[in-house]
Amino acid sequence: MSSFKYVIVGGGVAGGYGAWEFTKHGLQPGELAIISKEKVAPYERPALSKGYLFPENPARLPGFHTCVGGGGPKGLPEWYKENGIELKLDTEVVKADLKSKTLTTDKGETIKYEKLIIATGAGVINLKDFKMPGADADGIYYIREEEDAAKLYEAMQKHKGAKVIVVGGGYIGCEVGAGLSLNGLDVTIVYPEPHLMPRLFTPEIASFYEGYYEAKGIKVFRGRLAAAIVQHDGQPNKIQCVRMKDGEELPADFLVVGIGARPRVGLFEGQLEMAKGGFKVDGNFKTSEPDVYAVGDVAAFPLKMKDGELTRVEHVDNARKSVMQAVQAIKAEEKGESIPEYDYLPYFYSRVFKLSWVFYGENVGDVVVWGREEAIKEGGKFGAYWVNDKKVVGAFLESGTPDDNKLMSEVARKRPSVESQEELKSGLAFAAKI
Ligand code: FDA
Ligand code: NAD
Repeated sequence: MSSFKYVIVGGGVAGGYGAWEFTKHGLQPGELAIISKEKVAPYERPALSKGYLFPENPARLPGFHTCVGGGGPKGLPEWYKENGIELKLDTEVVKADLKSKTLTTDKGETIKYEKLIIATGAGVINLKDFKMPGADADGIYYIREEEDAAKLYEAMQKHKGAKVIVVGGGYIGCEVGAGLSLNGLDVTIVYPEPHLMPRLFTPEIASFYEGYYEAKGIKVFRGRLAAAIVQHDGQPNKIQCVRMKDGEELPADFLVVGIGARPRVGLFEGQLEMAKGGFKVDGNFKTSEPDVYAVGDVAAFPLKMKDGELTRVEHVDNARKSVMQAVQAIKAEEKGESIPEYDYLPYFYSRVFKLSWVFYGENVGDVVVWGREEAIKEGGKFGAYWVNDKKVVGAFLESGTPDDNKLMSEVARKRPSVESQEELKSGLAFAAKI
């Protein structure tokens, strides 16, 4: 049995940034262990659906280990060693007993901790979860971990010019769809909702991106549900086509599926209070069990700017900041001190082709879109503001500079009152006055 003062379960984004944060507080050798199912040290997961898929100079490890995206050290395995951190890779925690403060790994090792940080992230929703016929065929790719991205990349190389169907019109669908197209594949994106990115975009915003994709030769099948994957007769497991619910058959050489993620909570279910599909935590990411914290995709935390409404965020910025908050809270408590509770401004972003958007705040209320027609004709910036109770609560911007993006974040943070929505149509000029 080994024993550590701190253990982080999960070596993803939060695992990597947690390690960095601990080192800022004078971590002693042997105090911290990170246990990760993945074979590689923590890395910036967003690269997998973007730079990793580039046809030229694709991003590869060790280029994007945490915490390069946040301006921190590049966490190669040697960095963990130098900092006295035990990084147990390719090791899955298969049992957790929070009462006795012990974890058991798939290698049969028992690990004791004084303080535990759960950072197990989310796993993909699989077509098999819906019992879709043909969902077990070869040639269906999901993308969550580096191993998945490597397999997809290999398929792209092997099937040059192939027909690929991307199932799902969310983040993965948009980003991987663009990556496949850049590699010269014949891409069709299918999704059941009436427009792309339904979790965030309005129809007007989505239509800008749909038009852009179509101009790149990507076929976009809105409002269409994939019902079955049909395999070649006599060649079991080889995909022939995707049969849509309306009966149409779309030929495909392989598929990429991005139909959402589910927080990986199974290990601790029944031992912790749950909310929003994750673990309920307080403003310092403490769960219902003493000495147990949960961060990143699995944490349902009180969103201060929304009067403490419990919120779960599946995005990288929150993964980084939530674990930093948890570590700072742990260290402050050890000194008998406290820190202000987490005051998070939701921040999402994406990059595809030459496009790049950011969103800050909340997407509730009326939406005022500005600059879209000009952006369609001439390219460049366009944006949107969400107005709720006469306050601007959310801000979106395509193709902004870092300074423009900062303005958007300030608008969403300050929540300015507006009498008439007309003034929002001035776009960046409105933000600059706040
Ligand atoms: P994360 O998933 O990063 O890490 C969890 C780790 O825990 C994994 O290494 C996993 O193997 C491990 N684990 C799970 N169970 C375990 C067990 N029992 N034992 C041991 N280890 C275990 N967000 C964004 O804002 N902008 C973006 O552009 C993108 N892009 C993007 C692309 C792709 C392909 C994905 C999949 C996701 C994104 N995201 C994103 C989302 C973002 O990456 C995500 O929110 C963070 O990675 C969450 O960080 P966590 O540390 O919570 O989980
Ligand atoms: P998502 O929730 O963004 O999108 C899921 C999409 O799947 C929906 O929009 C819908 O179009 C589609 N869908 C749902 N059920 C379906 C069904 N039965 N058949 C066909 N389509 C269906 O999830 P995702 O795109 O899979 O992303 C997975 C995770 O990775 C999320 O946590 C996401 O936040 C994260 N991610 C984030 C970014 C980013 O922030 N830029 C990029 C990539 C991934």
